[in-house]
Amino acid sequence: MNIILLGPPGAGKGTQASRLENERGMVQLSTGDMLRAAVKAGTPVGLQAKAVMEAGELVSDAIVSALIGERLDQLGEAGAIFDGYPRTAAQAESLDQILAERGRSLDHVIELVVDEDALVERITGRFTCASCGQGYHDAFKLPAVADTCDACGGHEFKRRPDDNEETVRTRMAEYRAKTAPILPIYEARGLVKRVDGMADIAHVTDAIEAILDGRA
Ligand code: AP5
Ligand code: MG
Ligand code: ZN
Repeated sequence: MNIILLGPPGAGKGTQASRLENERGMVQLSTGDMLRAAVKAGTPVGLQAKAVMEAGELVSDAIVSALIGERLDQLGEAGAIFDGYPRTAAQAESLDQILAERGRSLDHVIELVVDEDALVERITGRFTCASCGQGYHDAFKLPAVADTCDACGGHEFKRRPDDNEETVRTRMAEYRAKTAPILPIYEARGLVKRVDGMADIAHVTDAIEAILDGRA
């Protein structure tokens, strides 16, 4: 099974993708994570992407589609959860081709429906464990023991450079202008299912699993 999680910055795509990975053995393919790894490693792609990401704008279609193709080749039989890709009509077209070349097809496009004003709080409060990547939030999900990662016991945490209010507003504008318009493409193919992304994290997962199991 191959699915797309679609929604604006902070909608919970990464949160839900990692829960589905743990529960279903599917694999999360996040272009944002791939690009951040490239920036950290200082690769040519990373050097090109760094300033664009810090401004909250979109990296070129060719770069992200190449990253997705490479990662799919390493997946074997596992199902893919596309997180943050596709983000433009051109990327949606590339994805069709990338999947077809590998004998895969799309099963669902799950739109996380959210209230944009609440998202700014979600994003500006977000932080992750520097060792294992476990996600946390200042208000909604603190570690059980202060300054100690629940998952690995690490004590260092980090915040994304693009998680400030000004950049978040740009990221949302990019979503509205370039990404939301791809929904009708998938709607015409009968692939879109909507989930209330403002519900509790566990409820959102339940709603997604109901779709994957054909119960919704
Ligand atoms: P990317 O990394 O994809 O960022 P994004 O789309 O802006 O989305 P986020 O990762 O911020 O949000 P999310 O939906 O994953 O939410 P999360 O689960 O963390 O992209 C970053 C940049 O890379 C882009 O701006 C662009 O420059 C570039 N890029 C990436 N892909 C690209 C592409 N395809 N084309 C071109 N450029 C590309 O949740 C957020 C917070 O809320 C967390 O703290 C979480 O704990 C909390 N939370 C989650 N769900 C809930 C809930 N139900 N209730 C309460 N809190 C919740
Ligand atoms: Mg994310
Ligand atoms: Zn950790």
